[in-house]
Amino acid sequence: MSATGAASPCALAGRCGGCPWILQPLAVQRAAKIAALHAAFVDQGLDGAPLAGLRLREAGAWGLRDRVDASLRAGPTRLGFWDIDHHDILDVEACPLQAPGLAAAWAALRADPPPLAKAGLRLRCAPDGAWGLWIDAANADIGALLDEGAWLRRAARRFVIELGQRRKSLIVPGDAAARPRLGPPSLRPWSDAALPGADPAVVPLWGPVGAFSQPGAAANTALLQAVFALAQRSGARRWLELGAGNGNLSSALLRLGAVVTAVEPDPLAAAGLDRLAADPAWGGRLRRAPGSLDRLVRDRDALFADQDAVLADPPRSGLGELPAALLAGPGPGWLLAVACGGPAVFAADLAPLLHAGWALVAVDGVDLFPHSPHAEWLALLQRPGLG
Ligand SMILES: C[S@@+](CC[C@H](N)C(=O)[O-])C[C@H]1O[C@@H](n2cnc3c(N)ncnc32)[C@H](O)[C@@H]1O
Repeated sequence: MSATGAASPCALAGRCGGCPWILQPLAVQRAAKIAALHAAFVDQGLDGAPLAGLRLREAGAWGLRDRVDASLRAGPTRLGFWDIDHHDILDVEACPLQAPGLAAAWAALRADPPPLAKAGLRLRCAPDGAWGLWIDAANADIGALLDEGAWLRRAARRFVIELGQRRKSLIVPGDAAARPRLGPPSLRPWSDAALPGADPAVVPLWGPVGAFSQPGAAANTALLQAVFALAQRSGARRWLELGAGNGNLSSALLRLGAVVTAVEPDPLAAAGLDRLAADPAWGGRLRRAPGSLDRLVRDRDALFADQDAVLADPPRSGLGELPAALLAGPGPGWLLAVACGGPAVFAADLAPLLHAGWALVAVDGVDLFPHSPHAEWLALLQRPGLG
């Protein structure tokens, strides 16, 4: 029984570290997330009043995930997630957070897991129903898996397989006696950016199995709706986008008619972004530029020139040099910040700008990971003197 008195749909509720808040009612979880954001603002000496009335956008409570990162351990075999105390990997037969396509892929993987002592696995179900499996293991273990050959041959009939840190694709020769081998990384549409009511409503996103993507389609739509609404509110037309990945949020800006200069350091994500940019539907309005959140003070003149706004969706570490670069002189009039690193990082990133007089025009949030403390936070800020 959960704290709500209702039975949890998860057999491991209270034990699995993937959902540490699962025994709390969703309304209590969401109130706690907003309270944590408020506390982080106050810690930074910021006014918490703009957060009054804030509500998290919701995509649902269960069945949200189309991709999952899991761990495999042998002796005895456990395929699942860290337990709540981070002591060991739990063997997870089924996870109610998984959408039906991913749940089917999970069951197939569990029925015949890779013969490895230890590995990290990313499992996906694409919008067209294809299953992808990225196996991140030591090079020697990947070599042994290729030498053994039989498991990879079997698995390749069901999964698109990628191996190792460099996300190499698997080539299975037609000759059953030949050793499977590694090929170059291979991209396909593993997820899409669906924004109902926009034109087009669905944009395919290309990448390798091991690429970053938001956790699932419905949650990503809620995030895209938040980005679309805030970007539209700014009225900005020329956008610099930092942390663009394979173009998920770029697609919201493009559907608003914006011109987008996108920065993405990961070469495989950038290849997916190039694929999006090449679609004639966008009329050349998306281009890629070199750069990094960690070098923005130096590169600000080149990257900020002629931009009306910056959209930043950084890794968990936060905005890097972006606040300092925006404060170093004239530049884009708007910042749309998207944060996955938690309320403390988000508030600390915004604090220098808000203390320097930038206006907090709007704050939004998305409950991307129900049953965990995590939420995705968004803020739209305007440069002083432009309001
Ligand atoms: C949270 S993901 C967001 C990706 C994309 N916006 C999306 O919605 O799928 C953060 C992205 O920032 C990129 N990144 C990492 N370090 C960076 C840096 N120093 N400068 C710019 N982008 C960086 C990552 O490669 C990743 O694609």
